[in-house]
Amino acid sequence: MKTSRLFFVIALIAVGLFLLAPGLSFADDAAAGLFKTKCSTCHGANAEGKPAMHAPGLVSDEVKKMSDGDLTGQIADGAKSKKASHAFSQKGVSADQVKSLVGYIRELNKK
Ligand code: HEC
Repeated sequence: MKTSRLFFVIALIAVGLFLLAPGLSFADDAAAGLFKTKCSTCHGANAEGKPAMHAPGLVSDEVKKMSDGDLTGQIADGAKSKKASHAFSQKGVSADQVKSLVGYIRELNKK
């Protein structure tokens, strides 16, 4: 008796998780969190840019025109200007995280 009830509970949890799973996008959440902690100080919470920080908005035609490689380079090592302050690969942001940020910026530019 007890075991079948346990099975029922487990099955219920499994079905619940199955239904919930598509609604949870951990990758997006992680990128959004990363953006908030590492980028929003200069680029704004919604990537709108901050003139006071001389940081451009990241939802722009310029950014849309940049290739994934350009964006990756810009974030990981400050691109052509090689700005130390923008070389996030030297500041604990992994290559995977840079990739997720590029994806996040692309998403913002779709809206
Ligand atoms: C210390 C302030 C600062 C922080 C923090 C910062 N940026 Fe920037 N970012 C700038 C400035 C200033 C520029 C423009 C000058 C340049 O290209 O170096 C820029 C340029 C960019 C560009 C190019 C935009 C264009 O139109 O050319 C991208 C993309 C970008 N940042 C992404 C990011 C991401 C992603 C993060 C977080 C990992 C981040 N930035 C964090 C200051 C910052």
